[in-house]
Amino acid sequence: MNKKYLITTWGCQMNEHDSEKIEGILNSLGYISTDNKESANLIIYNTCLVRENAELKVYGNLGELKGLKRKNPDLIIAVCGCMMQKEEVRSIIKEKYSHVDLIFGTHNFHKLPELLESYDQKRNMLIDVWNDSPDIVENIPTKRKYDFKAFINIMYGCNNFCSYCIVPYTRGREKSRNPEDILAEAIKLSKEGYKEITLLGQNVNSYGKTLENQVTFAQLLYMLNEIEELERIRFMTSHPKDLSDELIDAIKNCDKVCNHLHLPFQAGSNKILKIMNRKYTKEKYLDLVKKIRKEIPDVSLTTDIIVGFPGETKEDFEETLDVVRKSNFDSAFTFLYSVREGTPAAKMSEQVPDEIKHERFQRLLDTLHPISLKRNKELINREFKVLVEDISKNDDTKLSGRTDTNRLIHFKGNKELISEIVNVRVTDAKTWTLEGEIVE
Ligand code: SAH
Ligand code: SF4
Ligand code: F3S
Repeated sequence: MNKKYLITTWGCQMNEHDSEKIEGILNSLGYISTDNKESANLIIYNTCLVRENAELKVYGNLGELKGLKRKNPDLIIAVCGCMMQKEEVRSIIKEKYSHVDLIFGTHNFHKLPELLESYDQKRNMLIDVWNDSPDIVENIPTKRKYDFKAFINIMYGCNNFCSYCIVPYTRGREKSRNPEDILAEAIKLSKEGYKEITLLGQNVNSYGKTLENQVTFAQLLYMLNEIEELERIRFMTSHPKDLSDELIDAIKNCDKVCNHLHLPFQAGSNKILKIMNRKYTKEKYLDLVKKIRKEIPDVSLTTDIIVGFPGETKEDFEETLDVVRKSNFDSAFTFLYSVREGTPAAKMSEQVPDEIKHERFQRLLDTLHPISLKRNKELINREFKVLVEDISKNDDTKLSGRTDTNRLIHFKGNKELISEIVNVRVTDAKTWTLEGEIVE
C-alpha cells in the first residue's frame, strides 16, 4: 500500500513552490498525499521565518502533533524551510519538540529521499541543514497545485540585506538560474497546456548578475514572450532600486507580460529608508511610480509597507501615508515591523511601542482602503480577459479568476471554464475584489 504524506506550507510563493517540489519528490518515491493527519505516515511542515507570527504558528502546530506521535510512533514528522536555517530554532526543536524526526533546510530538500532512508535506519532525530549552496539543482520532480498556472524559479537567495529582513540568512546568496533552463521549463509547461507562468525571485530586477553570460531580466522576458502557446507571464518581486527603463519597456512591449508590478516601498521617510538599507529615496520611488504610470497607463501597482520600524517617528509615518496618497496603489500588503534576531534592525535601540504600531497600522489601512476601492470602481463597465481559476470561495454558484492586472473577480459561470481565459465585464467593485459577468 502507498505511504501517505501531508504537507503544510507557511510563507511566500518561494516556499509554496518548494513544497510543490517536495511533493514531486515524494510522489516519485511512491507516496500519495492525504489531508488527514491521522492517516498520514509522514507529516511535513515547510516553515517561514519572516515575521514572528509565522514562527509562532509553526510551534503551535508542532505542539499539536505530540499526541499523534504518541498514538502512532511510526509516523515521521519532518520540519523544513526557512525557520530551520536558524540554529536557535533547531535547538528549540531538539529541546522542546523531541517528537520531530527529521529537520532539513531550504538548500537541501532535494536530498529528501536519502534523508528519509537515513532516518529509517537509525530512527533518531536527524538534522541536516546546509548554510548555503553554490549549486542550482535542476530537474527536481514537481507536483504542481494547478494545471493551468505554474511557478518558475528564476533566481534564488538575496543579496540586499534590508536591515529588517531575515530572508538573506535563510535563503543564502543570490544566484540566477540559466536562461536556457528557465526557457526549457517554460516551453515544457506551455506544451503541457499551462497558460500562465509566474517567475519567482526575491528581487527579479537583479536577475542575471551572477551568470557567466549576463542576461538582464528584461531580456529574459523578451525570450519568454516568444513562447507561442503561453498566454501570460507574471513575476515577483521587483526592488525599486533596480527597476530599469529597459524593464518598463519590456512590460510595455511584451504582449504576454502582465500589466502588474509589485513594487514594495516599505516606508516613506528617507531617514527610515536609509536605515532599512533600501538604497532609494522617497522622491526616487515617487518618480518611478510616475514614470511607470505614464509608460503603462493600465498598470496595476501593488506594494508592501512596514509600520513601526525602529526609530519611526510620527513625522516619518506621515511620509509613508504621503507615498500611499500619491501612488494610488491598487492594493498593498501591510506589516507590523517584527523583530528578527540576527538582523541589524533587531539591535536598534528605538523600537516603537506596540500600541503606537497598531495605531499607525490602522491609520495606514484607513488611507489605503478607499484608494483601492476607488481604483476598482474606475473599472466598472470595462471588459477584461480573465483566467478562470476556481469556484468562488464565498458563493459556489460563481467562479473566480484574475485579470491581467492580477485583480480577483467573481462572476457566474460553468465550472468547466476553470483554466480557460474568458471575457468578463465588471459590474461592481469592492475594496478587494470585483464582480462581473461573462460576455461572449
Ligand atoms: N524579496 C521580497 C519579499 C520579502 S518578504 C521583497 O523584497 O519585496 C515580503 C515582505 O515582508 C517584505 O516586502 C516586507 O514588507 C515584509 N517584511 C520582511 N521582514 C519583515 C519584518 N521583520 N517585519 C515586518 N515585515 C517584514
Ligand atoms: Fe528581504 Fe530586502 Fe531581500 Fe526582499 S530585497 S528578501 S526585503 S533583504
Ligand atoms: Fe519566504 Fe518566509 Fe522564507 S517569506 S523566503 S518562506 S522566510
